[in-house]
Amino acid sequence: MCGIIAYTGKRNTTDLLIDGLRALEYRGYDSAGIFVAGAGVIKAVGPVENLAKKIPAGFSGPAGIAHTRWATHGTPTEINAHPHSDDKQHVWFVHNGIIENYRELKSELEKLGHVFVSDTDSEVVGNLIVEKMKTETTFEAAVMSALKDMRGTYGLAIMHDGEPGKIIAARMGSPLVLGIGEDENFIASDPTPLLRHTKNLIYLNDGEIAIVTPGKYDIFSLDNRRIERTPDAVTWTVGAAEKGDHDHYMMKEIMEAPEVVRNTLRGRLLVEEGMAKLGGLEDVKDKLRDIKRIIIVGCGTAYYAGLVGEYMIEEFAGIPVEVEVASEFRYRNPVIDEHTALLAISQSGETLDTLEAIREAKRKGALTLGIVNAVGSTIARETDAGVYNHAGPEIAVASTKAFISQLSILALFTLFLGRERTLSQTVGRDIAEALMSLPEKLEELLKQSGDIKTLAEKYISFRDYLYIGRKYNFPTALEGAIKLKEISYVHAEGYGAGEMKHGPLAMIDQNFPTIAICLDDSMHEKMVSNIQEIRARKGPVIAIATEGDTRVAGVSDDVIYIPR
Ligand code: M6R
Repeated sequence: MCGIIAYTGKRNTTDLLIDGLRALEYRGYDSAGIFVAGAGVIKAVGPVENLAKKIPAGFSGPAGIAHTRWATHGTPTEINAHPHSDDKQHVWFVHNGIIENYRELKSELEKLGHVFVSDTDSEVVGNLIVEKMKTETTFEAAVMSALKDMRGTYGLAIMHDGEPGKIIAARMGSPLVLGIGEDENFIASDPTPLLRHTKNLIYLNDGEIAIVTPGKYDIFSLDNRRIERTPDAVTWTVGAAEKGDHDHYMMKEIMEAPEVVRNTLRGRLLVEEGMAKLGGLEDVKDKLRDIKRIIIVGCGTAYYAGLVGEYMIEEFAGIPVEVEVASEFRYRNPVIDEHTALLAISQSGETLDTLEAIREAKRKGALTLGIVNAVGSTIARETDAGVYNHAGPEIAVASTKAFISQLSILALFTLFLGRERTLSQTVGRDIAEALMSLPEKLEELLKQSGDIKTLAEKYISFRDYLYIGRKYNFPTALEGAIKLKEISYVHAEGYGAGEMKHGPLAMIDQNFPTIAICLDDSMHEKMVSNIQEIRARKGPVIAIATEGDTRVAGVSDDVIYIPR
């Protein structure tokens, strides 16, 4: 996951770009580089600090571009690190994405005498622009022409030595956001490195290019039509994007859960009426009354949140719901009509598969809705209506607080739909009261973090884990497993506990612990019996149970209790 930061303005460009790269480190990377107009290029393998150490005194200029790279084409070396340039070093650029037709472009450019030094697909961009500059009258026109020859995805920030204060940004499938300042402007692959400088952001759309100088930004389509865009002001604070006293962003964001739920629910619950008030859906309220079916799409964690949404909406609002991973939905021929609403869930608001699923549903006449965290992001803009999470920036790549916020909004959405249909005020009020009490319960739960750490230490040597749950906690099990995989590089699988006897039970032995989500709810009895099946095969069991549930303690090796 590569990161881009670019700057043009009156400040110390180099310091600002290096700080920006540090703010992008959370994305993971293997090398980094910086180009500053008038100063040159410096690259380093490894942490941003390796790059920072290589920068000599006086390395400065009016504008620059910088990049953190996660190798896809070519190993992590200085030569493969960005910024790249054309072979005469007139055009410099950083690129996120993949140029799918780079082999064809490269061989055509080689025939024209261009020399390539890296193993990357990106490198073609510079020589292609230089070729176009031979026939086009301006740098901008050459970039537009080059982009039309490229197939694939890109988020690009490009500079040319003839115009040192100017940066051209271009987007196709790989997010880019402009930060608008006073006599200075910024470009980045996500808002994180911009928040300490400006709150005024413009997300570029696919097929848009922005010509950015300190006092101006102009946005055009690839066919050179001017596009008027005004910045969205985000309310996220700089502190929200920093680690504070925590060792990791993920830990910080887990600990933020109570505040996140408070912020997500704020002003949206009418407890007495047992109703949810979702301003972002007001304009489509009438259409929502006619909806006969909902399709929820998302990727990864957002998809798992959608699965919980399916259970909630069907149980309390009586509307049929299907949930599908966006990367499958977009390549099928889904059956959609004007009584279908497609609900897209995305923290970043920029996930390409989810965006394409929305576009496909729109083409087929569906009402499109979004649950999105990033204000002004592409999904937020392209859906007909939606609800913002207000969870603050999620910096950790592993989603935690966004998931909890997504579930909270899905509960609000269920209440909203249910009360418009058959859900009684009494049940609505019970749900609203329960939601209101969530932040305090999360605070109680987080007080156990020391004990949970001790428990984790006890199980640290195991290499395989199973997560099981039923009904609402089947998706929670899937979410638990993805989190363990991506953070600990430990094999984990999530299963609906009822499926265990249909095959997976065969894997269980004393070396394969199970995390069983066994709450005091309608599935309790069944879950206890699933735990016993695992214990019969000598599988260690860590149960997550409701406070006071002694029965679960009797059949498990360890228990984490959560408030009812
Ligand atoms: O930004 P999005 O919510 O659209 O991202 C979708 C997934 O990539 C994301 O939820 C991913 O699965 C999590 N970060 C994993 O922890």
